[in-house]
Amino acid sequence: MSRKVKLPYNAVNWLLEPLSAGGWISWEAVFNNSNPVEVEIGPGKGEFLEYIALLKPSTNFLGIEKNGKYFSKALARISNNRLSNVKLIKGEALSIFQNNIPPATISAIHIYFPDPWWKRRHWKRRLLNPQFIQLLWKSLNNDSGGLFLATDVKEYFDLIVLISSNYFKLEERKVEMNLPWKSKFSSQALLNKRPIYFAKFTPNKIVDFAKEESNQSVFVYFNRSQYFTPDKAGKISNI
Ligand SMILES: C[S@@+](CC[C@H](N)C(=O)[O-])C[C@H]1O[C@@H](n2cnc3c(N)ncnc32)[C@H](O)[C@@H]1O
Repeated sequence: MSRKVKLPYNAVNWLLEPLSAGGWISWEAVFNNSNPVEVEIGPGKGEFLEYIALLKPSTNFLGIEKNGKYFSKALARISNNRLSNVKLIKGEALSIFQNNIPPATISAIHIYFPDPWWKRRHWKRRLLNPQFIQLLWKSLNNDSGGLFLATDVKEYFDLIVLISSNYFKLEERKVEMNLPWKSKFSSQALLNKRPIYFAKFTPNKIVDFAKEESNQSVFVYFNRSQYFTPDKAGKISNI
């Protein structure tokens, strides 16, 4: 039997209700200040949000979580800690980026341990695909610190690096055994001695839309192909 999540009476103060299509969020109205806004997609139980919100009190954070159980746990963590620079929205990130996040308003995006969807027939459910990467790029502002990613699935990591290259420059890439915060998924990686692939991407100022078409076809091919082994230069063999 699952344990019930205990929420403080005022937990609703940390909630942002999903808006309908075309309803742009006003960050100033939501956070009551004009501090930069960073977004975490899929915060799970909210461990990273807690860590980063305490570390950067002059930055606002929005967590978008679609899973009800994880969402409640993240809400309990954030509201019990009274983190005034965090809001949580329960919903599907694709639709929220498409409909509610005003273009060029976000300072950084964090995606840690996106679901790998191990079975090939499920790869189409993966969060990061060319369409979504384009939406992330559009949401970032000129002062953006970039897009931060960590995963313990090397093949998914390589694919993201490949399909994001038109929109993002790979600024930093490292392999870690540990991250400065602990989450359920980072702990699992550590327990199983799986290295964590970490990347920082910065948005490109100019996008080659002709090249984007070839990125799309690489992605389509990847989802259909049985074997995919991008080499260090990002070239695809076995095709
Ligand atoms: C493997 S968990 C990682 C959780 C957390 N980031 C961590 O490091 O422990 C992936 C999380 O992303 C959420 N998620 C996946 N796709 C999503 C989407 N399209 N919109 C919002 N949340 C999503 C899942 O519900 C889950 O909580």
